[in-house]
Amino acid sequence: MNHLFADLPTTIFDVMSGLARELNAVNLGQGFPDDPGPEDVRRKAAEEVLNGYNQYPPMMGLPVLREAIASHYARHQNLQIDAMTETMVTSGATEALADSLLAVIEPGDEVVLFQPMYDAYLPLVLRAGGVPKFVNLRPPHWQFSREDLQKVFSDKTRAVVFNNPHNPCGIIYPREQLELLAEFCVRHDVIAICDEVWEHLVFDGKKHIPLISMPGMRERTIKIGSAGKIFSLTGWKVGLVVAAPAIMRVLAKAHQFTTFTTAPNLQSGVAHGLGKDESYFSSMRQDFQRSRDRFCERMSAMGFSVMPSQGTYFVTIDIAPLGENDDAAFCQRLVREHGVAAIPVSAFYAQDAVKTVVRFCFAKKDATIDAALERLKHIAPA
Ligand SMILES: Cc1ncc(COP(=O)(O)O)c(C=O)c1O
Repeated sequence: MNHLFADLPTTIFDVMSGLARELNAVNLGQGFPDDPGPEDVRRKAAEEVLNGYNQYPPMMGLPVLREAIASHYARHQNLQIDAMTETMVTSGATEALADSLLAVIEPGDEVVLFQPMYDAYLPLVLRAGGVPKFVNLRPPHWQFSREDLQKVFSDKTRAVVFNNPHNPCGIIYPREQLELLAEFCVRHDVIAICDEVWEHLVFDGKKHIPLISMPGMRERTIKIGSAGKIFSLTGWKVGLVVAAPAIMRVLAKAHQFTTFTTAPNLQSGVAHGLGKDESYFSSMRQDFQRSRDRFCERMSAMGFSVMPSQGTYFVTIDIAPLGENDDAAFCQRLVREHGVAAIPVSAFYAQDAVKTVVRFCFAKKDATIDAALERLKHIAPA
């Protein structure tokens, strides 16, 4: 068997959700909301199963969804995208990441990765034959510098995988950081695989800036979104991909033999959802922001060292002030002895891990958050 997958542990999200079920713990680990998602979007998908066409949809996605992707990003991010040559629908952002890495990398090519990173990136890079070059981000700001990029970019660099807004750190990279990254991508003729699955989950009036809109990036960025995150329907796994035609032609070939296509009823539901009014998106953000504030304010009041969360479903806490220096052991004790599942941020590093930061998902009903807070009281410093 292939040693890479044979030796790979089960993803931390599944491990923690399994423990949460087994131990009847409050699950603030894996990132999924309690909210069932917008009813009209689910109803549209249900109607399509009963009355629509259930055979193979076109490989690149239903035209109605591809049009919806182009007009959605025009409306929300001011991007001009040609639906028929520059969009593709995949089975989740994860498939889009796999397609992108398979399509871009030749064995031996170097790929820049920012740690902490979503856990799918590294195995996919390695299986595609890429050689990872890591930038290590550090709390509490998780920013990178020109020197950081100088160390890892070279003429061997083929691609960079960049996640913004960032999971697990809950930060949104400001324009200056995007410009700096774009400068290096252009200088070294690198393709940016930009994981923007959290693009709509931005708080405090902040706006998402897509990397593809930075100078020189239009022809060298693969922009990846996820309807699962936009509509709180994480099980749907519908990925939204945008890239210039020359890139998209090759991406399509990788997609053609990974999944080929995605359930047509879900595509119709997402097409309907992407066309919803701005009020849907702003009230969705407000609801999550309220949950964030509820969790963070109460955690801070209990004396926990809460780091700022600007977006995503996540907030991190610094456990060093609790006298802890092993986040994985801390999370095991938290779930087994105190009944709350969380995710150790070290799981998002391949090397030189930060081991004093723990991620909580706040995208939950008040009752779920309150039940977790009640249990967290037992380990609170104050
Ligand atoms: C940064 C990041 N990328 C990709 C994904 C996976 O998205 P999907 O469920 O659409 O495959 C997630 C899910 O949590 C994520 O946080």
